[in-house]
Amino acid sequence: MTQTKIPVDPAFAATAQITAESYARDYAHSIADPNEFWAEKAQRLDWITVPTRIDESNFALDDFRVRWFADGELNVATNCLDRHLATRGDKTAILWEPDEPNEPAQHISYRELHARVGRLANALRKLGIRQGDRVTIYLPMIPEAAVAMLACARIGAIHSVVFGGFSPDSLAGRLADCDSKLVITADEGRRGGKRIPLKANVDEALKRPGTTAVETVLVVRHTGAAVPMQMPRDRWYEAVVEGQPDACAPTAMNAEDPLFILYTSGSTGKPKGVLHTTGGYLLFASYTHACVFDLREDDVYWCTADVGWVTGHSYIVYGPLANGATTVMFEGVPNHPDHSRFWDVIDKHRVTIFYTAPTAIRALMREGAAPVQRTSRASLRLLGTVGEPINPEAWRWYHETVGEKRCPVVDTWWQTETGGILISPLPGATDLKPGSATRPFFGIRPALVDANGAILDGAAEGNLVLLGSWPGQMRTVYGDHARFLDTYFRTYPGSYFTGDGCRRDEDGDYWITGRVDDVINVSGHRIGTAEVESALVAHPKVAEAAVVGFPHDIKGQGIYAYVTLNAGENPSEALRKELIAFVRQEIGAIAGIDHLQWAPGLPKTRSGKIMRRILRKIAENLPDQLGDISTLADPAVVANLVRERRDA
Ligand code: WT7
Repeated sequence: MTQTKIPVDPAFAATAQITAESYARDYAHSIADPNEFWAEKAQRLDWITVPTRIDESNFALDDFRVRWFADGELNVATNCLDRHLATRGDKTAILWEPDEPNEPAQHISYRELHARVGRLANALRKLGIRQGDRVTIYLPMIPEAAVAMLACARIGAIHSVVFGGFSPDSLAGRLADCDSKLVITADEGRRGGKRIPLKANVDEALKRPGTTAVETVLVVRHTGAAVPMQMPRDRWYEAVVEGQPDACAPTAMNAEDPLFILYTSGSTGKPKGVLHTTGGYLLFASYTHACVFDLREDDVYWCTADVGWVTGHSYIVYGPLANGATTVMFEGVPNHPDHSRFWDVIDKHRVTIFYTAPTAIRALMREGAAPVQRTSRASLRLLGTVGEPINPEAWRWYHETVGEKRCPVVDTWWQTETGGILISPLPGATDLKPGSATRPFFGIRPALVDANGAILDGAAEGNLVLLGSWPGQMRTVYGDHARFLDTYFRTYPGSYFTGDGCRRDEDGDYWITGRVDDVINVSGHRIGTAEVESALVAHPKVAEAAVVGFPHDIKGQGIYAYVTLNAGENPSEALRKELIAFVRQEIGAIAGIDHLQWAPGLPKTRSGKIMRRILRKIAENLPDQLGDISTLADPAVVANLVRERRDA
């Protein structure tokens, strides 16, 4: 197959930190001698004790460990703040853009951010938070979210950020799983002119069993809405930080001490608490951020993710701040007040690097070129995408209409589990191909395996695995190390299984094809089919449910649910709406079912296993591609579903 190739722009390469030659040389070095390579790169951080032990990881199950820089000591907050004060004290660290464009933006300097973090860190200590305690952050996209993360890091508390779109039940599950002692929230969040009742959601969550470890709730006054405060549990954030000193002695952390937990959906069971540690994570977030975005001192860098996802952790907060960059934090959405908002913000703040998700690009592409073209975007020099495969059409629109062919597009593949970018072009080094994440980052050894685990060479398609560790790799599933090993290391022994399918072309470029497990990627967010199914069967009228993903023009994948009602219950439009609302209530707005089909029966094998492969084909409306259905217990069930789908 021939692919369009967009060669590296010589003008970009002329000033880039990494060129094709240096990438080839340094990548080879990183694979040949990872200890030497990463020991040298580790010098970009400020260590209290410089590590002498580098990579001690081993994926073999009889001697398993993921361990980096084990004798190193450092503090993440001092790396993100204190060390910049001498040279960048007055530089803007966080440039906050509010939901409403007519309200003032905030420019928070490194000096001011350092002081705010110090005050909160002191307040947390005073409230009894000690090293290793868990603190849950349930905030909108306001500077306090970054302040809270860094304040935890300063005193060695482990943060767990929960996306503000999650329901009280989802929040409760995450609070309970890690026995959080303290919650930081706001009266309300705002997004696209709508209000999100965050404090009320926390109140609801804390009524659920398992959340009794929570002693304190700090509430940021953001919209000013009246919220009931339950004393002595609830405290105004403003009041507790007031009068605290700006200076706060940082806790010396071992490189392998936990930094944060971030919950993510898997193919089975409840969300997993992905645990990241201190030294390797920070080094990897900062180094990938500097290389992939070819970062310069005067860049204004904007990643549109929410801090509730790993992209926000690594590429709004930790990577950019460790690098002393100016990072834009945006409270709003791309279509409020209109479809020019992204481009208006770029012009307003002279953004040079812009990093967003394919789903946002597709939604804006649908509105045509006019909302883009009425803006300048002259400040832009680099574009990036993350979260899901980008279709070549959307890639081209981004490159041509948004970037006017001036800006390289980096399609960055990674996962919550990987901590940072693993496969991506480097803008001064890599020829681009619309739809391909192209080449592995330094130190990354991707491989493709067939169903039996045999490694495929050359141009091939298979399951994507990684043959060795990298500093930003997750260390465990919080509280369940066995699940960590089972999920990632048992499928293909000796390697880390990503859960993604992938193709490698003749040039050695990688093309991620999407999840091969029962995880759906909706607008770049992971939803486990099992989670949606268990929410559905929790409804009193539902007997059984099966959920699959199907192609969706804007979201990439949509959620398709097959529902069998209890005997005596009848399908109706009202019940369909009720079930969809019920699932959103149980999980959160990201679990919006796009299509719900009534299923008098579900296709099962004779041993009772639901045949999702068949359900996926029916959802895609490809009934002639059902494949082998000879193992079905009752073929009539399938004929029924196909007929209903066709007639719908
Ligand atoms: C899954 C990870 C990484 C931060 C955001 C999502 C998919 C991610 C790409 C990309 C194709 C991608 C994969 C991956 N994915 N980036 N550039 N091209 N697919 O993090 O929620 O942990 O999801 O997102 O399927 O496994 P996440």
